[in-house]
Amino acid sequence: MSVEKQRYLITAALPYANGPIHIGHLAGCHLPADIYARFRRMQGHEVAFICGTDEHGVPITIAARKEHTTPQAVADKYHEIIDKALYQFGISFDNFSRTTSEVHKQTASEFFTNLYDKGLFIEKEEEQFYDAEQNMFLADRYIMGTCPKCGNERAYGDQCEKCGSTLNPRDLINPRSTISDKPLVLKKTKHWYIPLNEYEPWLKEWILEGHKKDWKTNVYGQCKSWIDAGLQPRAVTRDLNWGVPVPLPDAEGKVLYVWFDAPIGYISATKELTPDWKKFWCDEKTHLVHFLGKDNIVFHCIIFPTMLKMHGDFILPENVPANEFLNLEGDKISTSRNWAVWLHEYLLEFPEQQDVLRYVLAANAPETKDNDFTWKDFQDRTNSELVAILGNFFNRTIVLTQKFCGSKVPKRHPELETEKEKNLWLELDQIRVKIEEAMSQYRLREALSEVMNAARLGNKYLTELEPWKKAKGDVYVGETDFEQLQNKYLVENCLHNCVQLSANLAILMYPFMPFTAKKILLHFNIDKRANELLKWEHLGRTDLLKIGYTIHNPVLLFRKIEDEEIAKQLEKLQVSKAAMQAAQVATPSIAPIKAEISFDQFSQLDRRIGTITAAQKVAKADKLLQLTVDIGLEQRTIVSGIALHYTAEEVIGKQVTVLCNLAPRKMKGIESQGMILMADDANGKPQFISANKLVSNGQAIS
Ligand code: 2FM
Ligand code: ZN
Repeated sequence: MSVEKQRYLITAALPYANGPIHIGHLAGCHLPADIYARFRRMQGHEVAFICGTDEHGVPITIAARKEHTTPQAVADKYHEIIDKALYQFGISFDNFSRTTSEVHKQTASEFFTNLYDKGLFIEKEEEQFYDAEQNMFLADRYIMGTCPKCGNERAYGDQCEKCGSTLNPRDLINPRSTISDKPLVLKKTKHWYIPLNEYEPWLKEWILEGHKKDWKTNVYGQCKSWIDAGLQPRAVTRDLNWGVPVPLPDAEGKVLYVWFDAPIGYISATKELTPDWKKFWCDEKTHLVHFLGKDNIVFHCIIFPTMLKMHGDFILPENVPANEFLNLEGDKISTSRNWAVWLHEYLLEFPEQQDVLRYVLAANAPETKDNDFTWKDFQDRTNSELVAILGNFFNRTIVLTQKFCGSKVPKRHPELETEKEKNLWLELDQIRVKIEEAMSQYRLREALSEVMNAARLGNKYLTELEPWKKAKGDVYVGETDFEQLQNKYLVENCLHNCVQLSANLAILMYPFMPFTAKKILLHFNIDKRANELLKWEHLGRTDLLKIGYTIHNPVLLFRKIEDEEIAKQLEKLQVSKAAMQAAQVATPSIAPIKAEISFDQFSQLDRRIGTITAAQKVAKADKLLQLTVDIGLEQRTIVSGIALHYTAEEVIGKQVTVLCNLAPRKMKGIESQGMILMADDANGKPQFISANKLVSNGQAIS
């Protein structure tokens, strides 16, 4: 059963250091990467498991502005929070670094220089949008304007969320900065691009032909559609004062694009780990595996490998087992909407229950499609799988061993063994093989379900042998001494197998539930030998626990999750939802305050209450209604642009506010003698403004 020793370099995507992390991060990449790393280590392979925080990029500078601090302070704060949370969940990185480390800055800088010196970049000068007030060029997401397709005034530089169109910042009408809310100007700037298009033939061969069979279909499919759509040169520098400076004399105020520097972070973190780092990055025999979420696929499968290829000294990823997204209670997890289960908060609510969350997230991992985390499923899986199957087998084993064998590992009696014992260990071996197969194809859910099957085997064995029926109190059942002795031996043999199976279960579950595996070893009083015991090659051994060894008193491996605990979590989410809805009502396109006016100017405005007495659609104008408004002194004709929201019948009789001394103007040939004042609701529908009681027409508003 010995496995040839291999070398693995396992990476998990670097989370941005601009906020804490949630279950989506854990389920998407850090947990699967940890499970895989633990598994390969247990098999005796050499493993470097690498991660860290991604500390550059525009969002961190924006967070710093909002919090009135520096980007470095934001990165320091969240690096610590993220590092602690992942550590608490048992994510066993060999190095959890950060992209603001000196080693990283130097490594990223050298990487850029290497490509530059070989003349591999395209250098281009282009006009880009510039926020003159903030003194910065803006990335697409920070540019907002009117969508040319649907008229949405809050479309982003890369996409209109209302009609779903993909946009370029230049497509937007009246583009403005989301940071200063000021109009933007176009300004020339120089950048360096990697010519992805030139690497298209190579990428086709390497991915589309070379990895059709071994990469997951979701990953392969995304790569194929990118490549089929045709690759374009991609800028790897930005105008920003936060990041790794572009190491060229004529590049002041420019930094490496965060997606250029971040994956190089995997190399820097390995350098920090060991002076012998080249064996991981430069030896073709190393298996490089990147774990990540689906939004990172293109960067890890196309852009970073192209960078590595251009550089030439490094190996390429063997596999990129990206997961899809995990949703929460049917809705996309969102930091800004606080629609998330935060890791640090989970541990406050469910102290020491790391493995429960690890189990639920791994059992329900979004491996092939988006999946949903629900608190109900969390409760069900805990109570009916962890407690009722795994915990139950272990607990019964310990309780029965305490009762019948004085809490000591009982003897084995091979002469009494039957097909049942033979099958038990045979089936366990089949489970081992299935887990190995599933793990090597990154089907971690399936591997975990086999761990649960091993616990089911134990329960079935106990139920079939019914050791509790072979003794009454401390007297073994039987008419004769021989029968009693035989029952004693049968009980001992059964519990011997159960105890050994429990130790085997600890090995099987260790990649998935390391805390529980160690708890089992602690129970068996063999925790000091944990490193020696938790090895894959020990699976199937029936002598992991020495006969006569004392077992600790029973303690539950898992506890039941009560309905009230679930209700509390759901309530918490409801609070987030309510806050979000309130914020939406409060903030739909709030216009900035206009320039100051004098009291005199204010008092020149004549606003009065009036009542709409007649209304009709204006011919050949979809948006216009012609209204007759009684303003007390007279009837006015006012043309109002509300026909998309109101019918003529609907508005008759409404009391409204009228600006009466606005100069008349002609609309579609009708003279409009004033203006109805309105305010948009959360859905953008204009609402009439009236007094909260009926007042007489003509009353002035002061
Ligand atoms: O999407 C993200 O959260 C990025 N910070 C992932 C970076 S992974 C890598 F390339 F460093
Ligand atoms: Zn649109």
